Amino acid sequence: MQNQKNTKLISFIGGDTGCWETLSLTAVAGETLAKSARLNIVKGEDHESSIGSLWTLKAVVSNLRYTNRSEKNALDQNSRALGQPEYDYAALIPIKKSDEWWALTQDERRKIFEEDSQHIRISSKYLSMISRQLHHCRDLGEPFDFLTWFEFSSGHAHAFDELLNALRKTEEWKFVTREIDIRFKKVM
Ligand code: HEM
Repeated sequence: MQNQKNTKLISFIGGDTGCWETLSLTAVAGETLAKSARLNIVKGEDHESSIGSLWTLKAVVSNLRYTNRSEKNALDQNSRALGQPEYDYAALIPIKKSDEWWALTQDERRKIFEEDSQHIRISSKYLSMISRQLHHCRDLGEPFDFLTWFEFSSGHAHAFDELLNALRKTEEWKFVTREIDIRFKKVM
C-alpha cells in the first residue's frame, strides 16, 4: 500500500503553544493527563508541533454511527459551526468506553445511546449555545476512543455543566471507563 498522508487526522497537543489557555483539568474517570498551559489543535500529520509537548492526542472526524435521518436533519438545521467569534470557552473531553460496550452489536449500542439514554434528545436543547465536533480514535490505537470538542461563550459555561451532569447520569455513561474534562479560554 502507498504511504499517503492522513489529511483527516487532527492532533490535540497539550503544551506551551496554541490559542487555547487551560483553565482546569479534571479526571472524571480513570487515569489523568498532565495539565498543560495551552492547547494547540493541528490538522494533518505534524510531528514538529508535538516537540516538547506534554501530550498529543490524535483522532479523525468520521461518519455518523447512531444518528437516524430525522435526528440528522434536525441537528443539521440547528447546529452552529465551530469558530463563532463570541465563543471564548471550550472543552476537550477525551473518553474511553469499556470492552463490554465494544462487544455489543450496533443495534444494542444505539438502543443504549438513544432509546435508553436519550443522548441526542437531551443534548439537542443546547445546540443554540454549544458548537461541537466528535472525533474518533479507537481504530488508531490511541489511549481514548473519542475526543469530544465543544465551544461556547463563558456565559453558557453553566449550561454546558448542566448538560454534562445529565449525560453522566445516563445508562450510556456506565460504559465510560476513562474521561478527562479539560476546559479552555481563548487567547490570541
Ligand atoms: C451540544 C450538545 C450535543 C449534541 C447535539 C450531541 C450529539 C451527538 C450525536 C448526534 C452523537 C452520535 C454521532 C453518531 O451518530 O455516531 C453523539 C455522540 C457522542 N457524544 Fe454527543 N452531543 C452533545 C454533547 C455531548 C457532550 C457534552 C458529551 C460529553 C463528553 C458528548 C459525548 C459524546 C460521545 C462520547 C459520543 C460518541 C458515542 C459513541 O459513539 O459511543 N456529547 N453526540
